[in-house]
Amino acid sequence: MNALPRLTVIGTGYLGATHAICMAVMGYEVIGVDVDPDKVARLNSGEVPFFEPGLPELLAKALETGRLSFTTSFAEAGEFGDVHFICVGTPQMAGSEAADMTYVDAAVTALAAHLHRRALVVGKSTVPVGTAARLAELLRTAAPAGDRIELAWNPEFLREGYAVDDTMKPDRLVFGVTSAWSEERLRAVFAPVLAQGVPVKVTDLQTAELVKVAANSFLATKISYINAMAEVCEATGADVHDLAEALAYDERIGGKFLRPGLGFGGGCLPKDIRAFAHRAEELGVGQAVGFLREIDGINGRRRARTVDLVVELCGGDVAGKKIAALGAAFKPNSDDIRDAPALDVASTLAGMGADVYVFDPAAMANARKAHPELNYGTGALDVARDADVVVLLTEWTEFRKIAPEAMAEVVRAQRIFDGRHVLDPAVWRAAGWEYKALGRP
Ligand code: UDX
Repeated sequence: MNALPRLTVIGTGYLGATHAICMAVMGYEVIGVDVDPDKVARLNSGEVPFFEPGLPELLAKALETGRLSFTTSFAEAGEFGDVHFICVGTPQMAGSEAADMTYVDAAVTALAAHLHRRALVVGKSTVPVGTAARLAELLRTAAPAGDRIELAWNPEFLREGYAVDDTMKPDRLVFGVTSAWSEERLRAVFAPVLAQGVPVKVTDLQTAELVKVAANSFLATKISYINAMAEVCEATGADVHDLAEALAYDERIGGKFLRPGLGFGGGCLPKDIRAFAHRAEELGVGQAVGFLREIDGINGRRRARTVDLVVELCGGDVAGKKIAALGAAFKPNSDDIRDAPALDVASTLAGMGADVYVFDPAAMANARKAHPELNYGTGALDVARDADVVVLLTEWTEFRKIAPEAMAEVVRAQRIFDGRHVLDPAVWRAAGWEYKALGRP
């Protein structure tokens, strides 16, 4: 067998496209597969179909080497690959908290039909524990190569906005395997990553599946913990910003993911904790992670509280008021608006009769498509023109840098709500602004 296994990556969203591009840059021959011909055409022409810093440059580099191409053909992928990565999405199912496995099942089924020789299929998608065992069986029965197809699980921990770094130099690799051969194949695929000293945990399939949801649940819990403290602060006049800083000095607690504010959103944390709670109930251990429902509840209450405080800033009624909403993406350095707290707040205010004007440095096209009821502007100062209140919802660097004096010149009233605790209240108040934030007096 070749020293370097040939790879395919099924699904070219945030995860799959990044993985395919980075592996090609690291020296592997890679075919990316997607059912969307438009996405495939754009990637082949050198265009990354979403916002991710550094990725367009790497795509150009990878295409230039001739090692990377994209296709809609599973037959081509099956013929080409020694190791096949499954990177399709597992969104929340409509009308349920469970993960929707339609795309994973479809991808594995479509690939299986074209696996004629010994190969390794590697799941990267975030799935309910037990999925890998089911897919291994599906591959054995559906693939012409039968028993010679093995399945491994290799969860992905990349953060949007840092996807390239997280892929090239992750905190750790997790290999869920059922044979020495699978482990050897994975070590060959990740050789350049392992050579940097990145730790690898080799384990069974179900543990590997669980690592991902356990990690995301922990992160969500940490965020909701500090946001729960914010609720208590609001009832006592205490300042959650100072509280979080003081807690962070304790190394056992640490300051990461302890930033209070509008809470978490995105395509991972919210749906992963729901799917995990749902799966645990199916397994008869619902009580063990019952707290995740509380974590979700705390997170949702931050959005409701934000709306209440904006209404309060407007004097009790937002109908007919002009509101400048800074941010739409679920976090900065991303154009992802899945379960975005910012758009949730903006559209709730619009539903209450406010004229909401939104600006986001990267997510405008996605926001417009999902929320045609909102108005959109060309910049922070543009949407703030004649605003009765300015609401900062996503902590983009350019919003942090806004000068209170410049903003004061364009608004109707100097009222600002800082949903992400990124502005200095002393500076804004000194410039004549009424400043409000969650969990701060
Ligand atoms: C997350 C995990 O971090 C990543 O490891 C996993 O692979 C996928 O899910 P991502 O969804 O890209 O990544 O975003 P992340 O940076 O984790 O932020 C999640 C949300 O939490 C954002 O809405 C962010 O604004 C919010 N957040 C984060 C806080 O509200 N407070 C914090 O202290 C940290």
